[in-house]
Amino acid sequence: MIVLVGMPGSGKSSAGRQVARRFGLPFVDSDHEIEQQIGMSIREYFETQGEQAFRDLETALLRRVAESGEQIVLSTGGGALLREENREILRQHGTVLYLRASPEEIYRRLRHDTKRPLLQVADPRQKLQELFQTRDPLYLKAAHYVIDTGRSSIQVLVSHIAMQLEMAGLVQPSPQRPARKHPGS
Ligand code: S3P
Repeated sequence: MIVLVGMPGSGKSSAGRQVARRFGLPFVDSDHEIEQQIGMSIREYFETQGEQAFRDLETALLRRVAESGEQIVLSTGGGALLREENREILRQHGTVLYLRASPEEIYRRLRHDTKRPLLQVADPRQKLQELFQTRDPLYLKAAHYVIDTGRSSIQVLVSHIAMQLEMAGLVQPSPQRPARKHPGS
């Protein structure tokens, strides 16, 4: 199992889907699976049932997916590593890649977001700084590999992830990657 972790807006879902396609693996998006299960948006669920109820569903889902033993690409929600239990499940059953983006960059991408319950606050920029401070050490601790996303497009990010997975011998080199041009050729 290849697991993508990182802050909201770090590209986990978009890049995860494309990486899975590139290597012909099934793709599971944790938040999407949970929304299917509860029949409402995560934002609504947070509002009506509270964050802890969501975290319980998240842990149950991560455990179920991890213990299935299938070779998949899993993208997690930004808070998935808050619980030590989740960090252990994911590290034990998968290879964890942290898509690392600065809070400023994330703010730039998410400043108009209305879907993420934790960012519906007066000062989302400040909130992202706080979330980053708490979570960056947890992501770093849990990750087998860290990929700095900078301001990369999803396409570039996908190539970086693919290269990392190939170098680690976790996937067969993908035939879809265009051959690199040598200078002068
Ligand atoms: C959360 C991030 C969301 C989603 C939920 C909680 C968080 O996922 O799981 O709103 O705690 O950061 P994304 O990282 O896909 O936004």
